[in-house]
Amino acid sequence: MTIKLLSPITINRIAAGEVIERPASAIKELVENSIDAGADKIEVTIHNGGRNLIIVSDNGSGMSKDDLSIAVERHTTSKLNEDDISDINYFGFRGEALASIASVSRMKIISKYNDEAWSISVHGGENLGLSPASLNKGTKVIIEDLFFAVPARLKFLKSEKQETQSILEILKKIAMANPHISITLENENKILLQTTSGENNLSEIIGKDFLENAIPIDSNYDNIHIKGYVSYPTYNKGTSSDQHFFVNKRPIRDKLFSAVTKVAYQDLISHDRYPIVVLFVSLDNEDVDVNVHPTKAEVRFKDPSTLRSAIISVIKKALNENSQKTSSTIGFDTISAFSSNQTKSLVRDSTPNYQYIPKSYSTPSRKEIEILQEVNKPNFTSFNITPPAPQPIAPQESFLSEPPLGFAKCQFHENYIISQTKNGIIIIDQHAAHERIVYEKLKEQFRNNSAKSQKLLLPTIIELDEYQVDQIIEKIELFNKFGLKIEKFGNAGIRILETPAILGNIDPSQIIRDILENLENYGEEISLEEKINEILATTACHGSVRSGRILTIEEMNALLRQMEATPYSGQCNHGRPTYITLNLKDVEKLFERC
Ligand SMILES: Nc1ncnc2c1ncn2[C@@H]1O[C@H](COP(=O)(O)OP(=O)(O)O)[C@@H](O)[C@H]1O
Ligand SMILES: [Mg+2]
Repeated sequence: MTIKLLSPITINRIAAGEVIERPASAIKELVENSIDAGADKIEVTIHNGGRNLIIVSDNGSGMSKDDLSIAVERHTTSKLNEDDISDINYFGFRGEALASIASVSRMKIISKYNDEAWSISVHGGENLGLSPASLNKGTKVIIEDLFFAVPARLKFLKSEKQETQSILEILKKIAMANPHISITLENENKILLQTTSGENNLSEIIGKDFLENAIPIDSNYDNIHIKGYVSYPTYNKGTSSDQHFFVNKRPIRDKLFSAVTKVAYQDLISHDRYPIVVLFVSLDNEDVDVNVHPTKAEVRFKDPSTLRSAIISVIKKALNENSQKTSSTIGFDTISAFSSNQTKSLVRDSTPNYQYIPKSYSTPSRKEIEILQEVNKPNFTSFNITPPAPQPIAPQESFLSEPPLGFAKCQFHENYIISQTKNGIIIIDQHAAHERIVYEKLKEQFRNNSAKSQKLLLPTIIELDEYQVDQIIEKIELFNKFGLKIEKFGNAGIRILETPAILGNIDPSQIIRDILENLENYGEEISLEEKINEILATTACHGSVRSGRILTIEEMNALLRQMEATPYSGQCNHGRPTYITLNLKDVEKLFERC
């Protein structure tokens, strides 16, 4: 075997394999070049998922004839300060992209500088030279037949649709990080993305109701700055495709971010749903190494654990401060459903089955006031089905005059409460709402070691297999802390002696079985804290007012007041909303009154 020096063309093609995996990565490099050149308008055109044709035009600085001739060579860049290679202020700096793309495609670049436009063509790495051209401003890069020179790579490309989708995704991320630039993507005469330059383009990119259903974030944590938007837990998706993370303006693919988001939303959202999150993290250049991967989508952090805590705490704080809100689209969708069913329901159901409620009803009754006072007492731990004895304390006027969740009017289908507020009505899912209240109380009692337990008249014995017994016994202290007292019973059983008082009368063996199922589902993947929350959530579900329980108006109002005093009461432990709001205006629209 003899050793040979590889030809520049081969070297470029090997490098291209690393930098340019697919059309989307070529487009990313070209668009980043345009941004580095100071462009504020970038237009991308593709055909056949970028396989046959990619055109990227910008209105940036352009390149002179001399620069153009060397830009397509390997390791040529205008962006790196060789005295300090850690000082990176541009997207590019390796000087590889143009040479790599040119080595595997038919590339033509036209660029204007100082009133002169030139073009250069490179086919499969062979430089065909410069010629005079015409162009209004900036630079236009035309790539035909990407990967024609490396047919093996063509086989790895996905369908046209999937390639187009990844191009769209990468451009969305670039657009989010650069709202001052207008970006357009056109595929065979169809516009797939169009952003206008401005302060914020998230509604154009994610969807028009995103900002309405998201909480803005702008916080510092040590020397980490985190800015962006996180959706209310009730505004979520079945995939994580709308979770976008940026570090120093670069879109980053890193498990750390999706994992911490999951932890921050942990008990607010069901495990198979994903919140919509756009987060821009800014760190000192020296705290992050972007040079680990040629496409720079992966980075290395000097101190990942501080970053993790920073993101979790910032998101949790935002959610906490907005914990009463649920997404606006829920009420809106419901209204739309009403509207579309209108004719059908009129025909089918001509007799109204609602009840007229006199206006005077909207001021709270004496009994309601008493319950409210009881609820607001610090030791009110459970939703009490029997109203407490009257207490002669003056009501808090300001709160009573307009509690956010209004006053209950009626219950229907034995699970839903209708409450009237200043601006409309609220429909509450009593079971979901109570589940959240019990869960938050359990967590609080767990934290403060203040859980009360209730002795069972007869201890309950459950038979389990040995492994399950070990799993439960291992956590005996933890169960104790929230009022579940158990002990080992022989080798294959446990005995339940006391249950958390907050849950009232429940089936003790079912709790243990559910907890076991939970532990088995999550295994070692989640931390102890997350496990505790899972267990508490499971436990809370047992103690909640079941659907099907008929409540009095006083009991309903007591539930509403408790919701107002409970963090995250806008959604149940599975991320479903506990209540929806229908504005009077929308109701009036349904009746064509406005
Ligand atoms: N759209 C553009 N407008 C102006 N100059 C460009 C453009 N694209 C590339 N260049 C020039 O070509 C050089 C090489 O580009 P590239 O191969 O992508 O390497 P890098 O971006 O890492 O410097 C850049 O440093 C820049 O000077
Ligand atoms: Mg570049």
